[in-house]
Amino acid sequence: MDAIELLLTRQSDPRLIEPAPNDEQLAIIKQAALRVPDHGCIAPWQFIVVTGEARDRLGDIYYRSAVAEQQDDKVISRAKQLPLRAPMIIIAIAKYQAHPKVPRIEQVQSAGCAVLAMQQAAFAQGLGGVWRTGYFAQSEQVKAELNLDQLDEIVGYLYLGTPEIDCKKSAKHKPEQFFTNL
Ligand SMILES: Cc1cc2nc3c(=O)[nH]c(=O)nc-3n(C[C@H](O)[C@H](O)[C@H](O)COP(=O)(O)O)c2cc1C
Repeated sequence: MDAIELLLTRQSDPRLIEPAPNDEQLAIIKQAALRVPDHGCIAPWQFIVVTGEARDRLGDIYYRSAVAEQQDDKVISRAKQLPLRAPMIIIAIAKYQAHPKVPRIEQVQSAGCAVLAMQQAAFAQGLGGVWRTGYFAQSEQVKAELNLDQLDEIVGYLYLGTPEIDCKKSAKHKPEQFFTNL
């Protein structure tokens, strides 16, 4: 797949099954994450790969956090199952560093670029992925259990695997709706 085809056809695949990215595919996904724009060359990122039984440990973290933070029953009852929706999850974190020229928002944006880059790298290799966030990206207890600092930001959980269904999407937006000339 060439770069333009990738950019014009990338899509999310919410229904993901085994196999997970293999070691070679994962190595490329990791390298793609580290090529994103990075103001000040401070590399404000951390990535945690969750696969196999570690998904249960992540589910336990979700569960404990939802209970401790008094989420409603629906959130609590689903917590342990959420990480099982794909064979691999990469947790993407903006690892905040105080910097005179690079505000936190820019560090978060850079980490967000890394999520997209990883999804694109997966897609280009015939894999599927979906970027998810929700309550467990905001939970202070989840951050604490992942040994993150308060100003770090979980920018996304990138679910990765093999698309269960081959469902090509067509372009949904038209450029003229979003682009104008000054
Ligand atoms: C920051 C961010 C957070 C998202 N969080 C979720 C989420 O928690 N759950 C979800 O179903 N989709 C979420 N999405 C949307 C999907 O990743 C995806 O973009 C959407 O389903 C549209 O599919 P497409 O990428 O093929 O256009 C999020 C997207 C972004 C950019």
